[in-house]
Amino acid sequence: MSDFSLDGKMDLLVTHARTSGFVYQGSEIYDGLANSWDYGPLGVLMKNNIKNAWWKKFIQENPYNVGIDSAIIMNPRVWVATGHVGGFNDPLMDCKKCHTRHRADKLIEAFDPEQHCDGWSNEELMNFIKEHGITCPDCGSTEFTDIRKFGLMFKTHMGVLEDDSAVVYLRPETAQGIFVNFKNVQRTTRKKVPFGIGQIGKAFRNEITPGNFIFRTREFEQMELEFFCKPDTDLEWFDYWRSYCKNFLLTIGLKEENLRLRDHDPKELAFYSKGTTDIEFKFPFGWGELWGIADRTNYDLGRHMEHSKKNLEYLDPETNEKYVPYVVEPSVGVDRMFLAALCDAYDEEQLEKDKRIVMHLHPAIAPYKVAVLPLTKKLSEKATEVYTELSKYFMCEYDVTGQIGKRYRRQDAIGTPLCITVDFDTLNDDTVTIRDRDTMAQIRLPISELKGYIEKYIEL
Ligand code: GAP
Repeated sequence: MSDFSLDGKMDLLVTHARTSGFVYQGSEIYDGLANSWDYGPLGVLMKNNIKNAWWKKFIQENPYNVGIDSAIIMNPRVWVATGHVGGFNDPLMDCKKCHTRHRADKLIEAFDPEQHCDGWSNEELMNFIKEHGITCPDCGSTEFTDIRKFGLMFKTHMGVLEDDSAVVYLRPETAQGIFVNFKNVQRTTRKKVPFGIGQIGKAFRNEITPGNFIFRTREFEQMELEFFCKPDTDLEWFDYWRSYCKNFLLTIGLKEENLRLRDHDPKELAFYSKGTTDIEFKFPFGWGELWGIADRTNYDLGRHMEHSKKNLEYLDPETNEKYVPYVVEPSVGVDRMFLAALCDAYDEEQLEKDKRIVMHLHPAIAPYKVAVLPLTKKLSEKATEVYTELSKYFMCEYDVTGQIGKRYRRQDAIGTPLCITVDFDTLNDDTVTIRDRDTMAQIRLPISELKGYIEKYIEL
């Protein structure tokens, strides 16, 4: 294991991600678009693997949950009901001296990482800044304008008219697509409470301070679950989902020492929430929120009942009791999980003769599962046969150029867990060597056993 500094690690990682095809600067040939990123051939594979892993554990294997895929553009009344229209905004202020713009809550949290400002009023934010003499990070001045709130939702128009009646929003979270479908799903699946509805999809926020690569962007993907339960059972389910999410992160290979659970203190909690825990990850730039797990009580369904005038109560078939279910919501960003996995996996190792960059990604989320490498070009025909067969089941790479050692390094650097080498013995006995990325150990296996071996190896 190398001991490069954490600061340096972020730069190395971004460069590596950009040069190897995980993530490119968005619209790069037009000099980019600030904080927009495109996932390259490796990135899209890894991102899909992360989403598939979440779907497998949260929808397929979990006995309570089903999935949906709702529209990005929703009736704008949804966002009035939730308070996003008018309420979903960031506290901004400008430095009077150098005129740079800052988020008041972020300045406080950078000054004192123990402070968490969710739910603070403008007055509380400003008082803290003044009392502690917090300065402008760009010029050191203590003179700021008053705090103003800045709307975070992207607005557009639907149809040909561009007036106020045609205003619609790009959803800032996927959760509301689930809440508005609660009755549809319950009715059509005949699920009994407790049950959950999950979905994966894009969300958009006009963030003021995007940054740290793909950590905070304006267009991102979320994997959200809304878990509906009987009132007063919510805190038990809250514990269940906290552990479930943490286990998921360990299952996909994140290191326990880079994870911590942070419970929000009562001052930070939204007024309707009975508890919120963030699972934080130790990114190279510091601890940051990865996954939010919130007990949202019956707030969202209650608001939608009030605004839509539709009854979203649940009738318990066993007790004949009617109630508005309580909700526990584990919500996580795909891109943030992707970044955490990259940070955790990236390493530079000094070997006997050379140095290697290696991504110790869990095989289930690694972009390619296998690389097929003919020892020399003369073995291409046999190697292509192996590659063609394995490609039916797994994402495989094929590489014939350069020394075998160099080809192993290339695969290590993009996290391919297994390299299969076709050599001259293969022509006689139909066996190949399989090299393990992490240990670099090699074993010999018959080609007929490869599929079963790889399947086991990449299992979650
Ligand atoms: N429905 C609840 C909700 O959206 P959130 O804490 O605002 O809660 C949940 O977002 C998760 O979505 C975060 O923990 C983070 O992983 C991800 N996320 C939020 N804003 C993001 C952004 N601007 N860029 C990337 N990921 C973001």
